[in-house]
Amino acid sequence: MSRTRQPIEPHRIKTVEPINRLSTHEREQKIVQANYNIFKIDAADIYIDLLTDSGTTAMSARQWGALMMGDESYAGATSFRKFEKTVKEIFKKEFVVPCHQGRSAENLMFSTVVGNGKYVVNNTHFDTTRGNTLHKGGLPVDLPCPEASSEEAVPFKGNMDVEALEDFIITRKAENIAMVIMTVTNNSIGGQPVSMANIHETSDLCKKHGILFFFDCARFAENCYFIKRDEAGYSNKTIPEIASEMFASCDGVMMSAKKDGMANIGGFIALNDENLFERIKELMIIVEGFPTYGGLAGRDLEVLAVGLNEVMDFNYLDYRISQVAYFAKRIKEAGMPVIEPIGGHAVFIDAGALLPHITPAQFPGQSLAVEFYREGGVRVVEMGSLMFGGIDPNTGEKFTAVKELVRMAMPRRVYTNTQYDYVADVASRIVDKKDTLGGYEITKEPAFLRHFTCDMATVSNKKVIT
Ligand code: F0G
Repeated sequence: MSRTRQPIEPHRIKTVEPINRLSTHEREQKIVQANYNIFKIDAADIYIDLLTDSGTTAMSARQWGALMMGDESYAGATSFRKFEKTVKEIFKKEFVVPCHQGRSAENLMFSTVVGNGKYVVNNTHFDTTRGNTLHKGGLPVDLPCPEASSEEAVPFKGNMDVEALEDFIITRKAENIAMVIMTVTNNSIGGQPVSMANIHETSDLCKKHGILFFFDCARFAENCYFIKRDEAGYSNKTIPEIASEMFASCDGVMMSAKKDGMANIGGFIALNDENLFERIKELMIIVEGFPTYGGLAGRDLEVLAVGLNEVMDFNYLDYRISQVAYFAKRIKEAGMPVIEPIGGHAVFIDAGALLPHITPAQFPGQSLAVEFYREGGVRVVEMGSLMFGGIDPNTGEKFTAVKELVRMAMPRRVYTNTQYDYVADVASRIVDKKDTLGGYEITKEPAFLRHFTCDMATVSNKKVIT
């Protein structure tokens, strides 16, 4: 699939929204008022918002049309039946639990299967899966493949370390492992995909030891695209065929449909075990909603039924993944080191490498995120020691992340290449003054998922290279 030019957008634009660019002085005020936490800045004060690809998708005309068909009946709505049929077809599972988003699926799932002191093993937990595991008294364990931490641009860096998983099962015993989860694509280590071979090996190992094997499949279609593009034996398969093979290997899935569901809200659990389904359903009625709407409106279910199929269109995926690659190329040309190969939904900048004078304890990624806002009104997110670090509950010691990254997530079908060129220009200006950037410290910290709500301040004893 080599090509000489970018695939063009397989759609035209029907509805537009204005975006607002504040002055440098106004942005400076906003970031100080937000206590240097970019989650606390109002969207109206952001020029280009690359905080997340979650729930930020531009819906298609077919989705907007479907929205009007929403059946808002409390029980047994037609919209649920359409949604259920779509999920069953794509994910190859018997029972479908609609949820309002990914973390509510995690809450239901982990409340049901994760007991105190039980392990949940993942190729890499996303922050909410980690948070939900800990919240239920479980112990999250990440076993990414060794290539994940290498600088080499090898494909399928999102893989599980199957050897380490086998060792873990043998030493910690299968009965102490609540479940194994495969996150596709692997968001926390750069949106890197997982190969079909790795999926099969992990699935076989779980079957052999009788361990529940689930996917966290927020970006399943993007993962399927990479399998088609880069894994031997898959270039002639369609995206739905690859998805079928992938999901036939697991006991169930949890999905935040705010990503590859092409919708602004939604999620679900789909599984084959009726007994487990019944247990989840009992809890669901208490915390989420009746089993045929699960915290969603009928219209949301309609939108998802369309979006889950639209996302598997090869032309869409080809444009999508190529746009991510285009943006990454521009960011590299601006002089910022990026994680390679380029993943599915975002460009990840290695802030630790860009700002070596700021120690992980002083959050180089946060420093860069603040600077993107200050310099150009661009919102990006730190994915380093602010998000993944913390205080060890056993030792009371502070720990930092493996890498100090900044993620520039790309909303689906939202921004044009010209807008990404603007962000690259901002990046280039930051590179020119990178040695003047300083570190940050947390001044107020909640118990879980601190990056969302904590307050920060600049570190007065800036270690600046001159
Ligand atoms: N799993 C993965 C892999 C995710 O990336 C996310 C969300 C979730 C679960 C939770 O889903 O937000 O619907 O509750 N990721 C977003 C992000 C927030 O920006 O990457 P949710």
